[in-house]
Amino acid sequence: MARIVDTIKSRRSVRTFEDRQLTPEDRAYVEDVIQNIETPFGVPVEFRLLGAAEHGLKSPVIVGAHDYVAAKVKRVQGAELSLGFAFETFCLRVAERGLGTVMLAASLSRKSFEEAMEVGPGEVMPVASPVGYPAAKMSLREGMMRKAIKSDERLPFSQVFFRGSFGTPLSPGEAVSFEAPLQMLRLAPSATNKQPWRAVIDGNAVHFFEEHGLKESALGDIQKVDMGIALSHFWLTAQELGLKGRFVACDPAITAPKNTEYITSFEVAQ
Ligand SMILES: Cc1cc2nc3c(=O)[nH]c(=O)nc-3n(C[C@H](O)[C@H](O)[C@H](O)COP(=O)(O)O)c2cc1C
Repeated sequence: MARIVDTIKSRRSVRTFEDRQLTPEDRAYVEDVIQNIETPFGVPVEFRLLGAAEHGLKSPVIVGAHDYVAAKVKRVQGAELSLGFAFETFCLRVAERGLGTVMLAASLSRKSFEEAMEVGPGEVMPVASPVGYPAAKMSLREGMMRKAIKSDERLPFSQVFFRGSFGTPLSPGEAVSFEAPLQMLRLAPSATNKQPWRAVIDGNAVHFFEEHGLKESALGDIQKVDMGIALSHFWLTAQELGLKGRFVACDPAITAPKNTEYITSFEVAQ
């Protein structure tokens, strides 16, 4: 199995696919992945692998995909965080097998996806993704989209990570055992590539914050999905590198900039 750091470094959103269905083996692999995803945030996430033709699933930005994976959660505290964490874990696990994905919150025929997922009144399906074989060449439209939202760029490390307080930027070398998990977090995908994550390291803990930059919709706060995605990159990297710890929601009362909300902390096991 590829190392998670290699998978994270080589991952990118895929919108142009070979025009073919998943093989039975790959279908079984995807089913196995989605049935066995665990999140540390306690809200169960239900995944389904859906045939595009059978359910009338469409996306204006996707070319060639025959299969989609969608996920829903109950609308409870921590729902978006759990969903983002679980969904990105799925994306990385199938990337290890060479399969492409892209989370779609806006660019999809939402009604047909929600019908296929049987989304009930107390539930939400924030994102779905095609799953298939990346085409050798991306569509013109995909290339233009990537340029327009600067998908290949990320904010500098010291602009999003801090030491002790938001007034002290953190350099990669100062992050010590947190450096690799934070570097991998920084590469996470996010809605319109906004990168809402911020983190303050303090002794044995990293405190994570969300900088609000997009309006909430009926689907909830999509940037909390981004936070879940980012935390999965941090967590999977920490696990691979043997950095043991756990997430605890214990607000350290650090003065945060405007529109910046405390989310959770990672504490290293003593
Ligand atoms: C929660 C979420 C929602 C997204 N929604 C869409 C979408 O509706 N349409 C789309 O084309 N891309 C969507 N994306 C993909 C992002 O644009 C992409 O992740 C970002 O530009 C970074 O590019 P990369 O994933 O290739 O690193 C979404 C990504 C996330 C994480």
